[in-house]
Amino acid sequence: MSRSRLPPILRPRLTPRYVVSCVAAVYVVYCWLWGMPLFSSNLPAYSGPHSVGVIDIESPCDGRKTSDVKFKSTGEPAFLLETVLFSLYYPAMKGAKSDKPKHLWVPKPLSVTAEGYAKFAHISNFLTNSIFTVALWGLTGSTTIPANVDVPLRENVPTLKFTEHVEDKPEAGEENFPVIVFSHGMASSRTDYTHFCGELASRGYVVAAIEHRDGSGPGTMIMNVDGTEKPLYHFGLGDLQVDASFDTPELKQAQLDFRQAEIEETVRVLRAVNDGSGATIFEMNPRKEGEHLSSWEGKFDMTNVTIAGHSYGATGALQALKGAPCPERPFHGGLILDPGKSSGPLNHDVDVPILIVHSNSWSKKHSVFFGQPHFTVVKDLVKGVNKRGKAAWFMTSLGTSHPSVTDAPLIEPTLLSWTTGSTIDVYDGVGVYVNVTEEFMLYQKAHKRMGLLALDVTHSEYDSHDNGTQEMPQAYQRFWQIHVAPDSA
Ligand SMILES: *[C@@H]1O[C@H](CO)[C@@H](O)[C@H](O)[C@H]1NC(C)=O
Ligand SMILES: *[C@@H]1O[C@H](CO)[C@@H](O)[C@H](O)[C@H]1NC(C)=O
Ligand SMILES: *[C@@H]1O[C@H](CO)[C@@H](O)[C@H](O)[C@H]1NC(C)=O
Repeated sequence: MSRSRLPPILRPRLTPRYVVSCVAAVYVVYCWLWGMPLFSSNLPAYSGPHSVGVIDIESPCDGRKTSDVKFKSTGEPAFLLETVLFSLYYPAMKGAKSDKPKHLWVPKPLSVTAEGYAKFAHISNFLTNSIFTVALWGLTGSTTIPANVDVPLRENVPTLKFTEHVEDKPEAGEENFPVIVFSHGMASSRTDYTHFCGELASRGYVVAAIEHRDGSGPGTMIMNVDGTEKPLYHFGLGDLQVDASFDTPELKQAQLDFRQAEIEETVRVLRAVNDGSGATIFEMNPRKEGEHLSSWEGKFDMTNVTIAGHSYGATGALQALKGAPCPERPFHGGLILDPGKSSGPLNHDVDVPILIVHSNSWSKKHSVFFGQPHFTVVKDLVKGVNKRGKAAWFMTSLGTSHPSVTDAPLIEPTLLSWTTGSTIDVYDGVGVYVNVTEEFMLYQKAHKRMGLLALDVTHSEYDSHDNGTQEMPQAYQRFWQIHVAPDSA
């Protein structure tokens, strides 16, 4: 039989894509035959004093549109907010058991995420989509998130740390849970930072991890109140009806504007729950979670919310701080992790306390950012906030790499340290972020500088040779370099 009569997918073409697909396929079959797990270290339990609950909330948004750009294929608007989706992590009632199964780390249907990743890699076709689906299933298919689904919220009064250190203790029962709204990076989803979010919930914080539908993620399922659902895949300029003047920076700005609208809608939903409309939010939630929301009136501190983000999400969080605090964005603090190097300019107009943390690889790799070193831009931004009289910090977490705060290193430690050069123990990697976040939350609450945040600058520039600084208390030596702190502004 002549070669040309074979169906196209069986005709070997030695393109890099074909080779990668074959290698992936062989690896999957190999592991399957030998009964080896491909990935799948399970996610660890949370270490804080509270057990952790999680619910997925999807809520309709009155068709808010942030840009007129349309999809080529359907003519539908690309930046129309039909619903907003987030996972809410919270301190749960002690001993509460859930009758619902744990959430999967890669939400169902898996093929949406898999096809999204294939589109990302520009190799989407029937064969590669199937390979990606099988591979993703093999890699992570059975990994679940260890939070209890839809259990009651803890009664009240969170963190021990607060009561120890706050001088004017609030009246018993007056306190409510501090809220963090978290925005993910490029090629991510709401389930990529579950350990970071769950760990904070176990220490008394409520964390809303948004799933952005701006086309920057692999794939996401939009579910409407009437039960209809439709997938949205990763999209780029080529998928949009735009003229030549609409370039990549314009697309990024459109995506950031859409992300900001989703952040505001998340705040709106949380506020509705806090104002006593939890029952309605539950009824309108196509994901059918939140059966206890009706009793969560007044449980959140919606006056002082913290906005947090990683990478693209960090750029978005900075953008969301422009003009904050304001009613749509009641943010009194910003936690900015690895602010984007290619997601557009960083907003400097910030008038609330912020903490910017760079992973080691983010500081180490010199990048030119709008004509200046990225590191310098970030440093100037933080100094500017201090000049305005708001406390701001900039530091590097040693030994970490860009994905250290995500779940990826916990699920696949070896692969990640290989490909990203992180040297820190994977649990410490997330742990340093959680610890410093808690100290930052305490600062916002009590205006007290604790722990790492009480220290002064150790390295005004990042020093790649200094992997452990004697000037610091021992608990921090191996982990941190501080580039800007409030006193030194
Ligand atoms: C985080 O804080 C806890 C409690 O203070 C401490 O035991 C732990 O070692 C810290 N983790 C890291 C990685 O610094
Ligand atoms: C909210 O933030 C403001 C400004 O940072 C602060 O003065 C106030 O004490 C905070 N309120 C609560 C309840 O934490
Ligand atoms: C720094 O690295 C050197 C060699 O790589 C090692 O011997 C030393 O223990 C490290 N210091 C700290 C504080 O980790």
